[in-house]
Amino acid sequence: MAEQPYYVTTPIYYVNDKPHIGHAYTTLACDVLARFHRLDGDDVHFLTGTDEHGQKVEKSAQAAGVDPQVFTDEVSQNFRRLAADMNYSNDDFIRTTEPRHIHACQALWRAIRDNGHIYLGSYAGWYAVRDEAFYTESELTKDEQGNKVAPSGAEVEWVEEPSYFFDLSKWQQPLLDFYDANPDFIGPDTRRNEVISFVSGGLHDLSVSRTSFKWGIPVPDDPDHIMYVWLDALNNYQTAVGYPDTESALYSKYWPADLHMVGKDILRFHAIYWPAFLMAAGLAPPKRVYAHGWLLNRGEKMSKSLGNVVTAGDLVERYGLDPVRYYLMREVPFGQDGYISHESMVGRINGDLANDLGNLAQRVLSMINKNCDARIPQPQPLKPDDTAILAAAAEVLSTVREEFERQAFHRALEAIWKVVGDANRYIDAQAPWKLRKTDPDRMATVLYALADVIRHLAILVQPVMPDAASSMLDQLGVPADRRSFSELGSGHAVAPGTELPKPSPVFPRFIEEDSAA
Ligand code: MSP
Repeated sequence: MAEQPYYVTTPIYYVNDKPHIGHAYTTLACDVLARFHRLDGDDVHFLTGTDEHGQKVEKSAQAAGVDPQVFTDEVSQNFRRLAADMNYSNDDFIRTTEPRHIHACQALWRAIRDNGHIYLGSYAGWYAVRDEAFYTESELTKDEQGNKVAPSGAEVEWVEEPSYFFDLSKWQQPLLDFYDANPDFIGPDTRRNEVISFVSGGLHDLSVSRTSFKWGIPVPDDPDHIMYVWLDALNNYQTAVGYPDTESALYSKYWPADLHMVGKDILRFHAIYWPAFLMAAGLAPPKRVYAHGWLLNRGEKMSKSLGNVVTAGDLVERYGLDPVRYYLMREVPFGQDGYISHESMVGRINGDLANDLGNLAQRVLSMINKNCDARIPQPQPLKPDDTAILAAAAEVLSTVREEFERQAFHRALEAIWKVVGDANRYIDAQAPWKLRKTDPDRMATVLYALADVIRHLAILVQPVMPDAASSMLDQLGVPADRRSFSELGSGHAVAPGTELPKPSPVFPRFIEEDSAA
């Protein structure tokens, strides 16, 4: 079968902030999907990057006393470092200050304008710099001091200035028709319903240019205006695949994008404004936008003022990279808000990883090392119990694929760990350590079956824990070019006689410092 293109994107991150675990989470989910699709034989393009224009970034640069370009050059690097530290496999890293993006945004503007969807007017209304969003009076609430604030709690200011408008109000029905014709466009379903009910309530035309500050992309033919930062930012997804050259190899292969992964706070921009801009320009909207929930630190939103911001680096240093990747994808049902805590992290590391998968692999590899001359043993004809566990390991791929398709990472991992549980029950029932004396041939068969079950499990966990999986596959003597999903199943089993290196544990237990003394 020909390779299917798969284009997945993260939101681009505001460079006013240092990256924290919330940012790491969004990109991790995309990395897991990108790796999954590559292993599944797809032709993947995985994009991340930084959102560098707008008032929020300009203010941060001013506060730091540096020119915005110098400021963004520097802070954008923090996000590149995050990608390296978390072992993300992105194919590109886009910055909205790059010439390719400025060119693409001006082309998109012209396309929308030339189709008659942009007009000059003047804006008088509320703006929240923190959200880079306009709000109507009726959307505002009051904070504890009685000040007007955005629904997100962000401070708002009154803005009055000449502005170009996008005729968003005319897109209400086309958007509702689009959602109807594309039921998978927004996930999860609860978010889809929220968007539909918001759009059904009517849409106002949207101010898409600003004149009161300069840090942005000039509007074509009217350089007194700069483009609204969200119009600029959203278009990054097209820039990275070659827009405005819609005939280019990248654009024709990867557009429309398969998935824009976003946090629930920025769904409205992606599920309403973005498809409307694209339709107005005569371009195809993305295939899917998925809004995940918030990671809360022991139930509280992370913020600089609460002093409870956790960085990816803090967690990785304490618990190790792959355990953190596993924990973030397993602990919180993806799509919902969820807590992260030291206790639940240690529970997952010592339970799922060290006891369940790690111990299984370590037991089997050590027995092969000691009792089978450190080679994959030669099996006798398999018994029904052996074929059952091997079949379970091979068949789980279809469940995993379905769950990944719906961004239900926790469920995909749950399905894999069900096989881990079955394999542990199988080893306990077969007790190969007892067979060593009574029936060495049967011991060899059981260890052979287990080695192949572990090969399956290691191949399947690669998207989430690439390093740990690779170490397991090295220890099983599986060559690097035999690790894709097409290698699952009995036709590709471990080869008897393959010499194995000395085993070493892949998932150490987490020992509390207090009890380590
Ligand atoms: N620049 C815009 C996105 C433009 S995309 C065209 C932006 N940037 S952001 O840096 O503020 O946020 C980026 C992403 O990080 C959002 O998806 C947001 O939901 C996510 N997270 C930030 N904090 C988070 C948590 N605590 N938990 C989970 N995700 C959170 O918005």
